[in-house]
Amino acid sequence: MQNFDFYSPTYFAFGKDTENRAGELVKRFGGSKVLIHYGGGSVVRSGLLDRVKTSLEKEGIPFVELGGVQPNPRSGLVYEGIDLCRKENVDFILAVGGGSTIDSSKAIAAGTIYDGDFWDFYQGKRIEKALPVGTILTIAAAGSEGSADSVITKEDGMFKRGASGDAIRPKFSILNPALTQTLPPFQTAAGITDIMAHLYERYLTNSEEVEVTDRLLEALLLTMIHEGPRVIADPNNYEARANIMWAGMMGHNNSCGVGRSQDWLSHMIEHELSALYDCAHGAGLAVTMPAVFTYEMKHNVMRFAQAAVRIWGCQMDFAHPEVTAKAGIEAFRNYLISIGMPKNFEELGAKEEDIPKLVQVLLYGDGGSGKISGFVTLDEDSCTEIYKMMV
Ligand code: NZQ
Ligand code: ZN
Repeated sequence: MQNFDFYSPTYFAFGKDTENRAGELVKRFGGSKVLIHYGGGSVVRSGLLDRVKTSLEKEGIPFVELGGVQPNPRSGLVYEGIDLCRKENVDFILAVGGGSTIDSSKAIAAGTIYDGDFWDFYQGKRIEKALPVGTILTIAAAGSEGSADSVITKEDGMFKRGASGDAIRPKFSILNPALTQTLPPFQTAAGITDIMAHLYERYLTNSEEVEVTDRLLEALLLTMIHEGPRVIADPNNYEARANIMWAGMMGHNNSCGVGRSQDWLSHMIEHELSALYDCAHGAGLAVTMPAVFTYEMKHNVMRFAQAAVRIWGCQMDFAHPEVTAKAGIEAFRNYLISIGMPKNFEELGAKEEDIPKLVQVLLYGDGGSGKISGFVTLDEDSCTEIYKMMV
C-alpha cells in the first residue's frame, strides 16, 4: 500500500426530508449570504427549490439565485455566477441538483475569490481556496457531493476538463434518496453506470497489497449489481435508492481509493464524447469501459480475472485466465445493457468519422502532451484503436 493523506471533512445529512435542514446547515457552516445554484428546472418542478428557500428564510439567511446549469456544465454560466457572487457579496454557495450543478457551484466558489481566470484550475492549478459549498443532491451518480473534484466544459474549444482541491469538498451534503425518485429511468441508469465506473477505475490499480480497498470496492460493486435492477424495475424503491446513493458517495470521496494507483482512462476517453455529443456522462462510460478494459486486459490479466471471479461470480480458468478476464468484462457489458445503457457509438449518437477529432482533442487539446496515463499509457494509435472498438 502506498503512503497517503486523506481529508474528507464533509458533513452528511442522509434520509427522508433532510432538505428541510438546508438553512440550519448553512448557518452551522458560517453562511450569511447564499447563492442557490440549480439546473434546468427539475428542482423547480418537484417543489424542492421552494422547500430549500423556505428553510433558508426560516433561519433568516438572505439568498440570490442562479439556475440554468446544463448537463456537462459550461464555463459561461460559471463566469456569470462569479460576477453575481462578487456583486452580491455572497459567502456561501448552495448547489441544488446533480453533479453538473455541484461542479458548476465548486467552480464559482473557487473563481469568486481568485484573482485570475477560474479556468487556470482546469488546466492543472490546484484549488487551495474557495467559498464554502453545500449540496442538496438529486441524482446518485457523479459523487461530487463528497469529492474534491469539479468537471467543466470550456465553450471555446469544447474542452471538458477537471479541477481538484480539498478546498472544494462540500462543507455539507444533504442526501435524501426520495429526491431521486423523479429521475427518468435513463438518468437513473446513467448514474448507476457512473458510480460503477468510479469503483472500477479505482479497482484497476498497479499497486500491490491493497486488500482493504479491493474488498471495499468489491462490496460496493456487488451492492450496485444487486440494487441497479431493483431500482430500474421499481423507481419508487426507497431502500434500493438509499443503498445506491450512499454507494455513490463512498465510491468517489476516495475512501476506497487511497493507498493505490488508479486508472481514470475510461473517464478521460469518455469526457471527449460527452463534450462533443453532449451525451450523459454515464451513457458515454457504458460504451467506453468495455472497450478500454478489453484493451487494458493484456497489461494485467489476473486483475481482470480477479474482478470477474469476485464481482461477477465467474469460474476461474487457471489454465486460461484471459478467458475468465474476458467473461468478467462481458458480464459487466451485459449488465449495463440490461439496465438500458447504450452499447456502441450508434446507440450513443457518436460517429466513427469523428474518431480522429476525438483523439486529437483528447491528447493535444488545451495543452495536452500526446499521451494519457492510468492503468496503462495510451498514445494516438492506442486511443484510436479503443474508440474504434466502440463502433
Ligand atoms: O438540470 P435538471 O433540470 O435538474 O435535470 C437534470 C439533468 O437533465 C436531471 N435530474 C437531476 N436530478 C433529477 C433530474 N431529473 C428529475 N428528477 C431529479 N431528481 O438529470 C440530468 C443530469 O443531471 P447531471 O447533474 O448532469 O447528472 P450527473 O450527476 O450525472 O452529473 C454529470 C456531470 O458530472 C461530471 C460529469 O462529467 C458530468 O459533467 N462528473 C463529475 C465528477 C466529480 N465532480 O467528482 C466525477 C464524475 O466522474 C463526472 O465526471
Ligand atoms: Zn464519472
